[in-house]
Amino acid sequence: MNCAPTFMPNIIVIGAQWGDEGKGKIVDLFTEEVDVVVRFQGGNNAGHTLVVDGRKTVLHLIPSGILHRGVKCIIGNGVVVDPEICLQEIDEIKAAGYLKNDRDLLISEHAHVILPYHKRIDVLREQRMGAGKIGTTGRGIGPTYEDKVARVGIRMGDLIRPELFAKRLREVLAEKNPYLEKILGGTPFGFDEIYESYVNYGKRLSCYVQDTSLYLQQVIKKKKILFEGAQGTSLDVDYGTYPFVTSSNTISGNACAGSGVGPTAIDGVIGVSKAYTTRVGSGPFPTELNDEVGERLRKQGAEFGATTGRPRRCGWLDLVVLRHAVRVNGLTGLVLTKLDVLSGLDRLKICTGYRWKGSILKEMPSSIEVLNECEPVYQEVKGWQEPLSGIRSFKKLPVATQKYIRKIELALGVKLVMVSVGPSRDENIVLKNIF
Ligand code: GDP
Ligand code: IMO
Ligand code: MG
Repeated sequence: MNCAPTFMPNIIVIGAQWGDEGKGKIVDLFTEEVDVVVRFQGGNNAGHTLVVDGRKTVLHLIPSGILHRGVKCIIGNGVVVDPEICLQEIDEIKAAGYLKNDRDLLISEHAHVILPYHKRIDVLREQRMGAGKIGTTGRGIGPTYEDKVARVGIRMGDLIRPELFAKRLREVLAEKNPYLEKILGGTPFGFDEIYESYVNYGKRLSCYVQDTSLYLQQVIKKKKILFEGAQGTSLDVDYGTYPFVTSSNTISGNACAGSGVGPTAIDGVIGVSKAYTTRVGSGPFPTELNDEVGERLRKQGAEFGATTGRPRRCGWLDLVVLRHAVRVNGLTGLVLTKLDVLSGLDRLKICTGYRWKGSILKEMPSSIEVLNECEPVYQEVKGWQEPLSGIRSFKKLPVATQKYIRKIELALGVKLVMVSVGPSRDENIVLKNIF
């Protein structure tokens, strides 16, 4: 008899660029192999698109495993939850025939709540900054994380207890209202204006709220767990293009802190990267293309934000950005998405380093002043004309496409585990089974 325990790999999936790499599609696909999917940071600034049987679903808060029956989806403690949006998303998912059992969705009682004043502060601050604005999604993400760290936040566990929620809300409004009025020139909130609707949201959400770290501990030896990142490495509050970043750690290390499991539980980290680069919002983007090639990528790749609808800035693949992602996330594998979008271009460019004041930088500079002065150094490679969306094996790819893939792999020193050639669940070339 073989008494060795069965290996239950737990994998983290994160974005390797500035978000929108196709994480949602990849997490949905990988969910076929797992039992639990956990979101560990960010909030409804995320927009994760899943295309299954021709039907498109965009998820902002609920983990991208939700279209698989019986899989537990967890909104971890590291996520900031807008209760109104969360309920809307639950209703939409249910109306589409998913989440038949309420026990399949769990929300951490430690997760912080996005309240109306967070959203108003976010929007007013951006307005005040004018041209220097970050270009946030306006969803209140930054102000909510600020309150968490300042120890004045309201958590899901507070929201579902009406008396506690009332007490906490009164305390917080006493500070927020003068700030809103006097500093930001905005309108203050009345207590009832927030309390009445939010106490009801709390009641409706209470069936999902629990200690999700405890749940994960109970199942971790028996079940496979997928940790779903939001945003991307270059938007990380420490390692991104600060201050043009989001307000959470988007890198793999936060999967543990944001879900309440130890690092010993993790067996692999998969980075997701587009075959080119995009960015939404302000901030440096060395390989950005403000020409007809950039326009072509936006059109072919349908590069419009899944959350705000804003056109995404487009540019060539940047290996400096990706090398940085390999390092700070400890990537064990990479998925390359949207390779199909590059078909039809005669020549492609890959950025291998940055030219700065006469020297070549191979690593991401920490200062955006330096990054703003960097010029990308490109290697030009041959493109391909053939459409790729029907191809399912590496060998059937055009030779130039194969070379493009191998060049990236070699430059990064990390294995490509999959190539995505279309938005649908089945439009992939699997190179290695990570489970
Ligand atoms: P996420 O935030 O990382 O989950 O990515 P988004 O969903 O915001 O953006 C990725 C977009 O690309 C979505 O519209 C996906 O449906 C689409 N997509 C994902 N993979 C592919 C692919 O391989 N090819 C094409 N053409 N589209 C893809
Ligand atoms: P997914 O998970 C792309 C960007 C915003 C802005 C900056 C800060 O879909 O990849 P925030 O509202 O977070 O304070 O905005 O971060 N941003 C994203 N860009 N994809 C995302 O998520 C993003 N979430 C936030 O555009 O530049
Ligand atoms: Mg997105």
